[in-house]
Amino acid sequence: MLTIEAKAPVLGATVTGIDLRRPVPQAAAEALRAAIARHSVLHLPGQAVDDAAQVAFSELFGPLETTRAGADGAGSKLIVLSNVGPDGGIVPPTDRQVLNNRANQSWHHDSSFKPVPARLSILSAREIPSAGGNTEFASMRAAFAALEPAELARLRGLSAQHDFAWSRRRVDPALVTEAEAAANPPVRQPVVRAENPHGAALYLGAHARIIEGWDEAESRALIERLVGFATQARFVYSHRWSPGDVLVWDNRAVMHRATPFAATGERRRMVRTTVAG
Ligand code: OGA
Ligand code: MN
Repeated sequence: MLTIEAKAPVLGATVTGIDLRRPVPQAAAEALRAAIARHSVLHLPGQAVDDAAQVAFSELFGPLETTRAGADGAGSKLIVLSNVGPDGGIVPPTDRQVLNNRANQSWHHDSSFKPVPARLSILSAREIPSAGGNTEFASMRAAFAALEPAELARLRGLSAQHDFAWSRRRVDPALVTEAEAAANPPVRQPVVRAENPHGAALYLGAHARIIEGWDEAESRALIERLVGFATQARFVYSHRWSPGDVLVWDNRAVMHRATPFAATGERRRMVRTTVAG
């Protein structure tokens, strides 16, 4: 029987009584959709998913994004976040895979740099390190609700420019080619997303560069203050991965980031599918 149990006050629920290798009944799929809207992050332990099962499960929630050029898995429905190279060994710290993983250590919403940003991400643990390499989530609904009413009203009218090339080049100038920068021009997103029936959410993260109509210094001050506010411990859930874990999260309700691990000594391999907006 499908069971959904809240994990933490502001976000997260554990889902048991489901096997992602088998077709999910209509009623269970409905319950999962409702639980995502309510809890923002679902943890499905003990799943032995392979790529095909992960894609089939993810498609329950809508069409999937095709992985962008420059990411591991480009052109497919899978994005591989791994420090393991094609020969099966750990890649050197200068490798693009490692730099991409380092970029994921900044708080972000997946694909916020696309004109229509990602709705859900589904991430499965294939190999995990003995320590570190957690994935952390910050509730942007809880953070928004905790702001002063006057600030809340002011933020509702603002838009931010999300700029992929800018954010990745802050991590490492070599992380984005000119062609990739040209394929991902800056896009405008609302600072507050109001579509969730359980409450509006802040929407910022690593790609948010400036507030439309504001200068750079004022923009950075506001974005960094709000990201700092939203990532206080009271709004955050840190997921320590176990073998067989699958997480589903709502990119329009949470930011997330990876925590560091010993990337030159231990293997970490995660596979993501992404439900488009
Ligand atoms: C992602 C991501 C963080 C991690 O899959 O989108 O940011 O912990 N992952 O690997
Ligand atoms: Mn991500």
